[in-house]
Amino acid sequence: SANPYARALQEGGNGIEEELEDVKRSDFPTGFLFGVATSSYQIEGAILEDGKSLSNWDVFVHKNGNVNNGDTGDIATDHYHRYLEDIETIHSLGVDAYRFSISWSRILPNGKLGGVNAAGIMFYSSIIDNLLLRGIQPFVTIHHWDIPQVLSDEYGGWLNPLIQDDFVHFAETCFKNFGDRVRYWVTINEPNLAADFAYERGKHPPGHCSPPFGNCSAGNSDTEPLIAMHNMLLAHAKASKLYREQFQPKKGGVIGIVVHAIMYEPFTDDEHDKEAVKRALANNVAWAFDPLVFGDYPPEMRRYHGNELPKFTPEERLLIRDSIDFLGLNHYATLYAKDCIRLSCASSDSACAPGGDRAIRGFVCTTAERGGVLIGEPTGLPTFSVVPRGMEEIVDYVKNRYHNKPMLITENGYSTPPQQEQVDDFQLDVKRIAFHKAYLAFLARAMRNGADVRGYFVWTLMDDFEWSSGYDVKFGFYSVDRATLNRTPRSSAKWYRNFLGNISSNS
Ligand code: NOJ
Repeated sequence: SANPYARALQEGGNGIEEELEDVKRSDFPTGFLFGVATSSYQIEGAILEDGKSLSNWDVFVHKNGNVNNGDTGDIATDHYHRYLEDIETIHSLGVDAYRFSISWSRILPNGKLGGVNAAGIMFYSSIIDNLLLRGIQPFVTIHHWDIPQVLSDEYGGWLNPLIQDDFVHFAETCFKNFGDRVRYWVTINEPNLAADFAYERGKHPPGHCSPPFGNCSAGNSDTEPLIAMHNMLLAHAKASKLYREQFQPKKGGVIGIVVHAIMYEPFTDDEHDKEAVKRALANNVAWAFDPLVFGDYPPEMRRYHGNELPKFTPEERLLIRDSIDFLGLNHYATLYAKDCIRLSCASSDSACAPGGDRAIRGFVCTTAERGGVLIGEPTGLPTFSVVPRGMEEIVDYVKNRYHNKPMLITENGYSTPPQQEQVDDFQLDVKRIAFHKAYLAFLARAMRNGADVRGYFVWTLMDDFEWSSGYDVKFGFYSVDRATLNRTPRSSAKWYRNFLGNISSNS
């Protein structure tokens, strides 16, 4: 039977161009991991409880203007106190795995110079034990953007190579304490997006940015993101080496990294825009993956950045090369890419399409809109439009570039556009269900054509603190009442449960 949601998307003028069969769990191989994902700062709250120190996010959100509505993660969804209830909920969905992250400042409140906080270890140990008890694999992200504030104050966080050893110490502490039970490790979540948002766009702590991204604390948006990424990649490689030498041989398990993987399509049929697509992909996806697979930055980047792009020493190249067991992709969006070399990228945003955005690296402007028409149906975030074909395209890109090394979709999800919330949130939740069915259908097709994808995680379990957008942007299978913090399932939660149980349903 045809997928009514695919048709609904098609009738909207966007999304799926052809009718796809309704996707079923049995379209995916045995052993394929289906899960849900969260991150520590976005859900835990309890910012100073049981020995935890302040993180860079705890500090940043309390500065005026950094977050929509002045929202903070002080309480978030109070997961720290409700984690057992939340694990029951996760279990009720019938998932194979749960992806969550570990708060660095809960484990090592003072970085590597201080001691390990036993209460922090106990908290995550209990999460892990409770998951395993219910047959759910813990899929652990070591670092999902929150670092102890002291590391930022002392030496400037990710801009300083000193953080590499601090990170390795943190990772080692996690391997030692949880490695007997955890078989799936991600070192760092979305280093590419984090580097840009923290050091180019002013949206993440420490809030550095330079024109044209606004008026925030001074930084150098040409070089700082490149330096931050360099330190993250080396930190990853050192942690991965340690894991492979000391922990992996004893217990098995795999280690990888997760990249923010936007797909790009040319703004026009012009060859220059097609080249811009390649540069956009190289400057975002390959920026992180090329060093970790091949041992150096993409040639496409070197060509445009010259000496601004940091260099790996020969020893570092050996260290970093082949330092991942899998490629994690967070996929949310497809954007148009427009060449701006000939249009003088340096002048102003007006070189780009309306609603566009000047991406400094690679001389590309990216935009979700062309001639006043969005590339796909809107969601709660302006640059995240629903373009299900993007899933197949990005998987194919990564498959081809990295010789079909194992991949996982570590995040994919839909945030409700504010105006739709009232209409379809609970009874229908049509759009979120349609989103997952359509993206899964394109993923299944990429896999039928040979892509080696091992898992798919929904972002996210419940409405949470969506970084600088605060609580207004809602990605959850469960809604969270901000007053009572009660969780209520949306229809999509029920759909996922049926899908995972191989029960076909159109509701
Ligand atoms: C990816 C990030 O990992 C996650 O923290 C965020 O909430 C989602 N994108 C949605 O923007």
